[in-house]
Amino acid sequence: MLKKPKGKLGVLLPGMGAVATTFIAGVVAVRKGLSQPIGSLSQMGTIRLGKRTEKRNPKVKDFIQLAQLKDMVFGGWDIFEDNVYEAAVHAGVLEKELLTKLKRDLTKIKPMKAVFDKKYVKKLDGTHIKKGRTKMALAKALMNDIDTFKKENKCDRLVMVWCGSTEIYIKESKVHKTIESFEEGLKNNDPNIAPSMIYAYAAIKKGVPYANGAPNLSCDIPALVNLAKELNVPICGKDFKTGQTLMKTILAPGLKARSLGIEGWFSTNILGNRDGEVLDDPDNFKTKEVSKLGVLEEILEPDKHPELYKNLYHKVRINYYPPRGDAKEGWDNIDIRGWLDYPMQIKVDFLCRDSILAAPLVLDLAIFLDLASRAEMGGIQEWLSFYFKSPQAGKGIPPFHDIFVQMMKLKNTLRHLQGEDLITHLGLDYYD
Ligand SMILES: NC(=O)c1ccc[n+]([C@@H]2O[C@H](COP(=O)([O-])OP(=O)(O)OC[C@H]3O[C@@H](n4cnc5c(N)ncnc54)[C@H](O)[C@@H]3O)[C@@H](O)[C@H]2O)c1
Repeated sequence: MLKKPKGKLGVLLPGMGAVATTFIAGVVAVRKGLSQPIGSLSQMGTIRLGKRTEKRNPKVKDFIQLAQLKDMVFGGWDIFEDNVYEAAVHAGVLEKELLTKLKRDLTKIKPMKAVFDKKYVKKLDGTHIKKGRTKMALAKALMNDIDTFKKENKCDRLVMVWCGSTEIYIKESKVHKTIESFEEGLKNNDPNIAPSMIYAYAAIKKGVPYANGAPNLSCDIPALVNLAKELNVPICGKDFKTGQTLMKTILAPGLKARSLGIEGWFSTNILGNRDGEVLDDPDNFKTKEVSKLGVLEEILEPDKHPELYKNLYHKVRINYYPPRGDAKEGWDNIDIRGWLDYPMQIKVDFLCRDSILAAPLVLDLAIFLDLASRAEMGGIQEWLSFYFKSPQAGKGIPPFHDIFVQMMKLKNTLRHLQGEDLITHLGLDYYD
């Protein structure tokens, strides 16, 4: 049974930097009629229902009851005290002129003190940080924040989307295995428990759906996956699929569909925002690299097509280059092979804006996680893989990376929730 979205939806954001502030400012701007939510499937996308001849193509938001923008309130945590207006100015993504029009609303939103440890994000130093003797004490402090925020803002429901910096690479280990070992680790300050895991734990314990927009593990450990299942709380991750990986998962399925071979795919980026600075550290970059490298393997299936993809050389680089700020440039050089093994090259130069691409994903994730929660769908939400570079999937199940397969899964989940026939594309409407 799908419960109706009544009252306010509180959107809590650990990490109120470029992505989070661009998201909040965008929603406020749309609410004021100043702009449009471009890039958001929940707001702008349509969904085909029934046979093509029936011509039923409502907007997603008119098809299924979703939280509305007017009912959203925002909160979060950061290691810097700046309110959302100040942080947005600092991030330098949106123009001053637009931000001035939103200043009154944005100034009111102030981050709560963060759970942070420099060990996990070496390039950052902040002062707006909680103190606690143990990681368990810090988790409890976060749970208190969640309760207070909900009460003060008179929210009916909450969701949490991690928009914090990428933490150093941590491998799954013993402490992450069961909820008992994890809680023991929280009490003993186990170094393998990173701050993002503490936020995820606090959210799940409070029944708050949680999405992870960064590549660090966060809720992608058995202890938290099982806790989410047990408490029937929706979770998903990892790493927003925006610039270069978005392009990769659009292009690779097309090349494969034509049985074109790929010998090499070299991807490099320059960016100059705070995210770029954090990723300049090799331990933090490693987390991102692992997340970015997985996509081609799953899409191209070299085991099934060794003659086309067995020797594929895939390399990803990110370079911190301050003059560019948030306006990233992502280059791809793709060496492909065609008929009779003749070589060809494709060059992609994507002059993108990182946070402009990520903000609508935060919106959709908040809205769809709330939907999942109202539909009582707990555990990993694979149908939201559409939004991630490295989608979390059930144990032993390989994730889908092909963006068109991901979209089909998302829309079929919406059809299923509304009792409509699923569209299996035995016809030809792959893109609907
Ligand atoms: N922009 C994109 O296209 C994109 C795509 C995929 C993933 N991401 C990820 O999203 C995250 C946010 O990106 P961004 O560009 O907004 O970065 P940003 O550096 O502008 O913002 C991150 C914020 O998180 C804060 N922070 C760090 N650790 C924290 C903690 N423990 N608790 C609370 N706050 C904390 C930082 O102070 C900073 O303000 C990064 O991890 C990034 O890798 C971004």
